[in-house]
Amino acid sequence: MSILITNIKELLQVRNTPISKVSGIQMKELPTIKNAYILIEDDIIIAFGNMSDSTGISTDKTIDARGKLVLPTWCDSHTHIVYAGNREQEFVDRINGLSYKEIANRGGGILNSAKMLQNTSEDDLYKQSVKRVKEVMQLGTGAIEIKSGYGLTVEAELKMLRVIKRIKQDFPIKVKATLLAAHAIPDTFKNNKDGFIDLVINEMIPKVAKEQLAEYIDVFCEKGYFSIDDTDKILSAGKKQGFIPKIHVNQFNAFGGVALGVKHDALSVDHLEELKIEDIEALKNSNTMPVALPSCSYFLSIPYTPARQLIDSGLPLALATDFNPGSTPSGNMNFVISTACIKMKMTPAEAINAATINGAYAMGISDMYGSITKEKKANLIITKEVPSYNYLPYAFGYNHIDTVIINGISI
Ligand code: NIG
Ligand code: FE
Repeated sequence: MSILITNIKELLQVRNTPISKVSGIQMKELPTIKNAYILIEDDIIIAFGNMSDSTGISTDKTIDARGKLVLPTWCDSHTHIVYAGNREQEFVDRINGLSYKEIANRGGGILNSAKMLQNTSEDDLYKQSVKRVKEVMQLGTGAIEIKSGYGLTVEAELKMLRVIKRIKQDFPIKVKATLLAAHAIPDTFKNNKDGFIDLVINEMIPKVAKEQLAEYIDVFCEKGYFSIDDTDKILSAGKKQGFIPKIHVNQFNAFGGVALGVKHDALSVDHLEELKIEDIEALKNSNTMPVALPSCSYFLSIPYTPARQLIDSGLPLALATDFNPGSTPSGNMNFVISTACIKMKMTPAEAINAATINGAYAMGISDMYGSITKEKKANLIITKEVPSYNYLPYAFGYNHIDTVIINGISI
C-alpha cells in the first residue's frame, strides 16, 4: 500500500546522502524542505521533495498535511520499559526528604523492582509492559532500546528478555534488547559481589547468548554498584559472546567509566550527569555516542548532562528517556526534547538531531531509521498545525502530534 503525504508545511531531517550521526557544530543544522510531499510504499520511504514535483504520482491513499510538519519518529535509545508494578511510594518518600541513595540502601530502588518482577508471571509482565509500549508509540517513538536488569536472577532476567522478544515480534516499533544483568547486587549476594559477577559471566551471559535474546550488554558502573574493574570484566565476557557494550556511567560519580566504555568501543555511554574534562577527551576520536537522559535529571533533581560542553567540544549527543519505574517513570520523548532545550540549552535543531539520527546511531540502526532518506523505514510523525519546529519544544507539555506512522502503519 502506498501513501502520499501532501502540502507538508515543512519536512524535517531530510538527508539525501545517508549519514550515521551528526556531531558538534553540524548538530545545529536540521535540513528541511518547505511545502513538501513524501511518498511511502508499504514500510519504506520511496520519494520526497517539493510539492511542485509531486504531480502525476498515483497512490492508494493521500494525507493532506497543510500547516503541519512531518519528521522521522523518535529513536529512544535507552529504556527499561519492561518492569512490574511501580515505585510511587518511593516518589512520596523522596518528597518527604529521603534521597534516591537512602531509599536504595533500605532495600528500595532497583531491588524493590526486582522483587516485584520476580513475583510477576511472564504473561502479566508482558501485559503491563505492552500498555507502556503502546503509549510511547502514540507519543511518536518508532524505535526503542529495552534493557533487562530488574530480574537479577537467571530465571527472572530470561523472563524479562523473553518479554522484550515478544514485544519485538508483536509490534511495528523497532526494538533492540540489552542485557543489563549487572544493574544492582541482589540481596542473596549482599556480601559476595564477586559471586554475583561470576553468575553474570558464567551463567547469564552464555544463556542469553544461546537464546539470542539480546544484542547489547550494559552495566551500572557506579559507586555502590559495579566498579571499573567489575565493569571491565563483565564487558569483556559479554564481548567474547558477541554482545556490544552500552553502559550506564557518570550518573552520580565520575571515576573513569567513560574511558572504559571507549576502551571497549561501546556503542554508547549513557547518563553523564557528572562529567570531567578527561571524559570529554576520552570521547574525542571514538565511535562512542554520549547519551543524555534529561527527564531522569528532572525527576531526581540531579544535574543535567552538560550538553553544551559536549557539543561545543565537537562531539555528538543523543537524547533518550531512560523510562523506568525508579528514576524516570515517563517515556515521553517530546518532554525530553523540551527539557533538553530549556534546561540544557540545546537548540531545537540540536535536540531533534539528538532524538532522531543520533538516537538511531546509539541503537546501531541509523542505516534504516532516524532521517528522511530514500529506502529508510517509513516511520513518520505528522504534527498538528504549528508555526514552526521551534514551537514543538517551546510549547512544552502539549501534545503536538496528529498522526504517527510506524513501519508504514498509521497507529
Ligand atoms: O538508568 N541508573 C540505573 N538504572 C536506572 C534506574 C534504576 C531504578 O531506579 O530503577 C537509570 O536511572
Ligand atoms: Fe537507565
